[in-house]
Amino acid sequence: MEYTKIVQINNLTKSFRVGSQDINVLKNISFSISNGDFVIIVGPSGCGKSTLLHTILGLEPPTSGDVIFLGRNVYRELATEDERSDFRKKHIGMVYQQSNWVKALTSIENVFFPLMLMGYDEELCRQKAEDMLKKVNMLEWKDFIPTELSGGQQQKVALARALINNPDVIIGDEPTGNLDYASGEEIMNLFIELNSKEKKTVIMVTHNLDYLNYAKTTIRLFDGQLVGIYKEKDRKQLAKDIEKFKLGNKSQNKNEKSI
Ligand SMILES: Nc1ncnc2c1ncn2[C@@H]1O[C@H](COP(=O)(O)OP(=O)(O)O)[C@@H](O)[C@H]1O
Ligand SMILES: [Mg+2]
Repeated sequence: MEYTKIVQINNLTKSFRVGSQDINVLKNISFSISNGDFVIIVGPSGCGKSTLLHTILGLEPPTSGDVIFLGRNVYRELATEDERSDFRKKHIGMVYQQSNWVKALTSIENVFFPLMLMGYDEELCRQKAEDMLKKVNMLEWKDFIPTELSGGQQQKVALARALINNPDVIIGDEPTGNLDYASGEEIMNLFIELNSKEKKTVIMVTHNLDYLNYAKTTIRLFDGQLVGIYKEKDRKQLAKDIEKFKLGNKSQNKNEKSI
């Protein structure tokens, strides 16, 4: 089934109880993401970007509000963690800044491991994993243990693993955060290709402002609030708003360099 809106977030709030205090991390956030969009979420460190992604992923029940993913109300219709985990495995591929590997397994085994857990035949899994590794230009490294590979190579294997279930949506939480310039560009280009050629919806958090040029939609968060949604035509305004934020922010906190 085709969904024009792949993700819909309605009045989402999230607070964490720390000691006797409630910390409001997400404050009444609403937006939607269209099928085929390339969304980049930006905002200073600690503003709630990862929490928002976790909430979208079904990993972090919101304090109030709804997440509707492919027409399913994630926390109401998929009420248990198991149901949400199954849903995630079917529809979402995830890449973090740093990957968790099963250390005793080779790269290809790490890529198809999630599929085997779903009960598929090993030969089929291996074949699919080869296809995915080829897609990210890592087939020749398939028998290396991931930790023997460079950071950039590991992120490509992580992307292959994220793609193994042919997900509708790829979510990245600073997937280039630990990489040198060239490796970062390579990963970004893979995300762009997946979006443009395979029509995968991409939702990504990044600190690299250069990458905003690749976004079809940019969502700017500040202190748990959504402070701007920008389309490609709004890029000049986005650059201005980010600059304004930096200037305003400098006087408040000299140590904060990130956006
Ligand atoms: N499990 C948690 N318990 C308490 N506070 C948390 C938890 N997760 C995140 N936070 C707090 O929420 C805020 C936002 O965190 P996060 O979403 O990781 O920000 P970002 O990804 O934008 O850097 C931070 O102040 C962080 O300390
Ligand atoms: Mg984060």
